[in-house]
Amino acid sequence: MRICVIGLGKLGLCTAACLARGGFEVAGVDADAAHVAAIARGETPFAETGLADLLAEVRGRLTVTTDTAAAVAASAMTFIIVPTPSLPHGGFDNAHVLAVLEALAPALAAHEDRHVVNLVSTVMPGSCDGVFVPFLERATGKRCGADFGFAYNPEFIAIGSVIRDFLNPDLVLVGQSDAATGAALEAVYGAVCDNAPHVARTALVNAEIAKLSINCFCTMKISFANTLGQVCEAVTGADAREVAGIIGHDTRIGHKYVQPGLGFGGPCFPRDNEAFIRFAADHGRDAELQRAVVAVNERQPGRVAERIVAAAFRAGRRVALLGLSYKPFTSLTERSQALDVAVHLATRHPELSITAFDPMARSNGLWRLSESLQECVRGANVAAVLTPWPEFREPGWRALLAEGAEVLDFWG
Ligand SMILES: NC(=O)c1ccc[n+]([C@@H]2O[C@H](COP(=O)([O-])OP(=O)(O)OC[C@H]3O[C@@H](n4cnc5c(N)ncnc54)[C@H](O)[C@@H]3O)[C@@H](O)[C@H]2O)c1
Repeated sequence: MRICVIGLGKLGLCTAACLARGGFEVAGVDADAAHVAAIARGETPFAETGLADLLAEVRGRLTVTTDTAAAVAASAMTFIIVPTPSLPHGGFDNAHVLAVLEALAPALAAHEDRHVVNLVSTVMPGSCDGVFVPFLERATGKRCGADFGFAYNPEFIAIGSVIRDFLNPDLVLVGQSDAATGAALEAVYGAVCDNAPHVARTALVNAEIAKLSINCFCTMKISFANTLGQVCEAVTGADAREVAGIIGHDTRIGHKYVQPGLGFGGPCFPRDNEAFIRFAADHGRDAELQRAVVAVNERQPGRVAERIVAAAFRAGRRVALLGLSYKPFTSLTERSQALDVAVHLATRHPELSITAFDPMARSNGLWRLSESLQECVRGANVAAVLTPWPEFREPGWRALLAEGAEVLDFWG
């Protein structure tokens, strides 16, 4: 079977490569001709763990093009994985998805087989039934559920482990226009996944709400852990990390995300919370718990920064910041809490001399960016671990700090 994947970005290219690894012929489409040409030349256009090797492995089964209509015409199923940028009011912009639907509609109209359109991009609940399906029915003259299938199949991968997460999901979530469409998606994941995940097949709107809910629940755990951290800091003898480790053994809670640290950032968690709050408001409801989750998170970089300032007053003004990316194994600093800490320090505390190092992120301007961890920490009075990169766990660099230096490991 041939599958078309439209949008070969951070999620789409990995998805296309994983589908090809599972034995499918994959036609990858992107609107960016230079990006397509780079992939066609065998280049890996961005850093993602395991992507270069996987692209080399599936080379014969993954072709790339800018021609949406031709790729859809030659495929049995189309995955759409284009951006849905956040809007100022918290919702997501459908413009890229609609542009893809418009481009593929003639091919869908002409398809003799019952083609399945599978939307992966994160969208506002209600968009599939309210916008995308009616758009396709109007544009093709066909009936969804009868003449073509429509699915909403969002991903829960994390940048830096996209391929591993895609191949080993806890959950495959499939919103389906009809049972045959859901079954077709389930069969694809059955062929592609290395594990045997739970496949949840449901109505399109339930899948849309579940996608946002999962990310909102994870971030609720994170903000709880940081609230715990805040309280324990004020209590003599209390250790938030130890308390968090204990409560995680209760299976109703679990260990994942129950760890005090810097809070959440990156391209998904913050905006999914804002979208959920917006979604609730659109329906006359106040998602007050989620508003609190966001408020705790937004205060966290300032709190962390002021702990670094206090340490600098005790130990000396040379501060080494370890980590700028929003999480390890990525160069992304989009809505990075680590970056917010660095900006807070640099803009509000000019008395500090700040050097930063990150194995991949290159954000610069307000501080000196070191080329190596060793260079960054040499002679520093305070070292703060802001992103939990594994190499910051190695103890060797601590010997390079100034005498009497303090190490603040916000993830340790
Ligand atoms: N990256 C993640 O971690 C992640 C996780 C879960 C969900 N998502 C969702 O997946 C979607 C895509 O995210 P991403 O991070 O891969 O985005 P991205 O910006 O990395 O890539 C998007 C790609 O789509 C291409 N594109 C845009 N319009 C197009 C069009 N009309 N036709 C063909 N190609 C087009 C762009 O050129 C780009 O290469 C978003 O809705 C995002 O919320 C992403």
